[in-house]
Amino acid sequence: MQIIKEKAALQQVISGLKSSGTTIGFVPTMGALHSGHLSLVAQAARKCDHVVVSIFINPTQFDNPSDLQNYPRTLDSDVALLEELNLNVLVFAPNAFELYGDSVTAEHFEYDGLEFEMEGKFRSGHFDGVGTIVKRLFEIVQPDMAFFGEKDFQQLQIIKKLTKKYNLPVQVIGCPIDRETNGLARSSRNERLSAEERENAAFIYRTLQTVKEKFGTENADNISHWVTEEFKSHPFLKLEYFEIANSKTLKTLNKKLPTAQYRAFIAVYAGEIRLIDNVALNY
Ligand code: PAJ
Repeated sequence: MQIIKEKAALQQVISGLKSSGTTIGFVPTMGALHSGHLSLVAQAARKCDHVVVSIFINPTQFDNPSDLQNYPRTLDSDVALLEELNLNVLVFAPNAFELYGDSVTAEHFEYDGLEFEMEGKFRSGHFDGVGTIVKRLFEIVQPDMAFFGEKDFQQLQIIKKLTKKYNLPVQVIGCPIDRETNGLARSSRNERLSAEERENAAFIYRTLQTVKEKFGTENADNISHWVTEEFKSHPFLKLEYFEIANSKTLKTLNKKLPTAQYRAFIAVYAGEIRLIDNVALNY
């Protein structure tokens, strides 16, 4: 498997592939790969001839410096996991200078209000950093399709908006959330949970499943109140936000429309570790 660190070298390989009609699928990541990431790579390989996986811990999307500092850096084991898949995969692992030059700063983006909801309220500047790096990576990799997890559903919708606004010739594809056997959405942060916290964190998905059942018969306010109470009495988990929102606009549900699609979104602290999850409610 090829591992390329310079963007000029990557662009050369890609233009060679493209000139022979090879389609390129792209999976951007920050490394510390787990089976959630690998499910995106497998999906990309089903749809495209070649898959480019980028591994780059993007400094401009971290609002918390210690989170950036503690982010696991595991290139060798990431490469080993990708190799085991035995697919047509190429790794792009640039350093910050390759992508940012001397100025490690984010551009400002407007995503028609998607950026002000949920994660946008709690992680200032985060989606400017994500937009900056994803747009840059799309320009370098020039993929036909790019694959993002529904785990970060707001990010997925924001990237779809970005490609539309800037007319980027990339088809953005959302992939389902990969979960641990107890239901906890897989995340590199799960590794930092104690065994007890990890077991307790399964409560998040169990709660979302009950929310889905309730959504058929109860109104959103009652459900939100119920979720808040459930977490108030939980000894290990602290609720940051819970929202039932329109899947497209990400706006909080006020009046249920028969044709709209809704999702429940949640952010919870287990000790120091912030976990997010979401489920589709009526589709
Ligand atoms: P990262 O957190 O490494 O995630 C890379 C991709 O994997 C994202 O599209 C994310 O939604 C997906 N993913 C993570 N956990 C998943 C799970 N349990 N099931 C399905 N997909 C999952 O998201 C980022 O990196 C960055 O913001 C990035 C897009 C790379 C820009 O820097």
